[in-house]
Amino acid sequence: MKLSVIGCGYLGAVHAASMAELGHEVVGIDVDAAKIESLTRGEAPFFEPGLPEILKSAIATGRLKFSTEMSDVAGASVHFIAVGTPQQRGSYAADLTYVDAAVAGLIPYLAEGDLVVGKSTVPVGTAGRLATMVTEGSGAQLAWNPEFLREGFAVKDTISPDRLVYGLPGGEAGERAKAQLDEVYATALSNDTPLVTTDYATAELVKVSANAFLATKISFINAMAEIAEVTGADVTQLADAIGFDTRIGRRFLNAGVGFGGGCLPKDIRAFTARAEELGRGESVAFLKEVDAINLRRRDRVVNLVVDALGGEVFEKKVAVLGLAFKPFSDDIRDSPALDVAVRLHGLGAAVTATDPEAIANSRRVHPQLTFAEDADDAMRDAEVVVLVTEWNEFRELKPEHVASLTAGRTIIDGRNVLDADEWRAASWKYVGLGRP
Ligand code: UGA
Repeated sequence: MKLSVIGCGYLGAVHAASMAELGHEVVGIDVDAAKIESLTRGEAPFFEPGLPEILKSAIATGRLKFSTEMSDVAGASVHFIAVGTPQQRGSYAADLTYVDAAVAGLIPYLAEGDLVVGKSTVPVGTAGRLATMVTEGSGAQLAWNPEFLREGFAVKDTISPDRLVYGLPGGEAGERAKAQLDEVYATALSNDTPLVTTDYATAELVKVSANAFLATKISFINAMAEIAEVTGADVTQLADAIGFDTRIGRRFLNAGVGFGGGCLPKDIRAFTARAEELGRGESVAFLKEVDAINLRRRDRVVNLVVDALGGEVFEKKVAVLGLAFKPFSDDIRDSPALDVAVRLHGLGAAVTATDPEAIANSRRVHPQLTFAEDADDAMRDAEVVVLVTEWNEFRELKPEHVASLTAGRTIIDGRNVLDADEWRAASWKYVGLGRP
């Protein structure tokens, strides 16, 4: 099939390359000329494992092209909207400027029978409004097809998704749209990927409620960590024990410095704002608590560092291991790790931060921080080491080796990934989150 993808960020670039990899002919459109140049050369403008390989191979087949010109979508029959929906300035609501502009810009190039497919995360009710714009402005239809990919596993999640959701218009238009989407996703469907076909509102809500549930799960275990901290209990054992109940499950029960990134934090806020607009604020009022618990964990890590330094932070050397919001990503949007580094710097500590992939992005936003290219350099002469993104190279650190570099012997494990006994046996003061 001939497809277009409007918006070539984390979502769109991966979607475009993956669809081409599956055999479709794809053009990716973005207003950012530098991004388009880089993608055209087969270079991913951000770190995403597996993306450079499929970009290069798909470009070589001639099936994948990129452009800044919306008119280049002409000839494609299915058009994916994959632009960002960031948090609005001065409000918790989602900013729909880019989605609206993408759809409005696309309409003049749509042909009779084309399908516009929304992938961006939007407040419930948006698809209905956009559908009216599309059908009134062209002979095309609109479907809503939320995306569940995780950064770091985005290519795998796009090529082999764990489920597909189609939000469709009613009647014959819906049947036609379903047939078009079935053709796009023929490979996944032939591998028995579960498919839910539904209306627009349900499809939109599936996406935000999935992220709200995941955020709630993380804040639930972090709330248990807070209780564990005043009772001497161990939240990691607690998570293992409750996780054996398959109704609960162990995944997303890792207590630590909390969630960040471009999705979970902004999605729960936008959901709260939308529910309030709908007069149903109380239904998701608990998400404010989820947000608050999450943010308290960052305070907790900062306070643990301050305590470890006996309350005297000024000019004390602190090594911060991790800047990305999670491993296998260079994304620093709302990253708890970067937040901890910035706050410690603000308190006057001599912070040296490192991350295998996220230094360049961090430096752009926070040039005041000192960065080291690797963990050894970051930790040299540090009084306190704080681990806030669980990259494998940090998980594998050996206490004896670290002790040969640092001035102090305190390690704060903001992700609960180190072996407390091993570090204590090597004469370290080990401090986890919610564990003795
Ligand atoms: C999230 C969802 O997991 C995807 O399903 C969704 O498609 C995506 O948002 C999106 O809306 O686009 P992502 O933001 O890539 O994906 O990251 P996650 O893997 O969900 O991690 C989010 C944050 O939670 C990270 O900061 C991570 O460190 C933290 N986390 C995760 C925990 O603190 N504890 C856990 O047990 C798991």
